[in-house]
Amino acid sequence: MSKVAVVFWSGTGNTEAMANLVAEGAKDAGAEVDVIQASDFDSTKLAEYDAVAFGCPAMGDEELEDTEFEPMYDEVEPSLDSKKVVLFGSYDWNDGEWMDLWRERAEGNGVNVVDSVIAKDYPGDEAETACKAAGAALA
Ligand SMILES: Cc1cc2nc3c(=O)[nH]c(=O)nc-3n(C[C@H](O)[C@H](O)[C@H](O)COP(=O)(O)O)c2cc1C
Repeated sequence: MSKVAVVFWSGTGNTEAMANLVAEGAKDAGAEVDVIQASDFDSTKLAEYDAVAFGCPAMGDEELEDTEFEPMYDEVEPSLDSKKVVLFGSYDWNDGEWMDLWRERAEGNGVNVVDSVIAKDYPGDEAETACKAAGAALA
């Protein structure tokens, strides 16, 4: 059975709701899943997992949240090796540019990004389906 970590930061709960949907998709596909706050994760925990989903909303000006999430992600990214990775997060007033930039950065650094999912504000039906499918892709 594969073991999946869903690691997220969420200020107002929208990305947290996506994290729970990604976790549900992975569990339904047979994985063992831990949902973990960004501040509780680092590269020493990576060895326990076969795959990781990272969730962070658009913050700053199309940026990752820079107090807890980005320092954690910067530290973990070089150790991801060939593990399957999903990126997800919520946004509001722009069109999801932060996710394009994040995915480009990750892929440019050799991360095996198998899917990315964005939701405007709280995940609706379409995002719910996409989150569950992304979780299943990690199982
Ligand atoms: C400080 C701050 C910066 C934000 N920057 C952006 C942005 O650059 N682009 C965007 O589309 N939304 C931006 N947003 C909106 C959030 O991404 C949006 O409210 C999202 O749903 C929050 O997700 P959360 O509930 O997981 O915290 C920003 C919100 C805050 C509070």
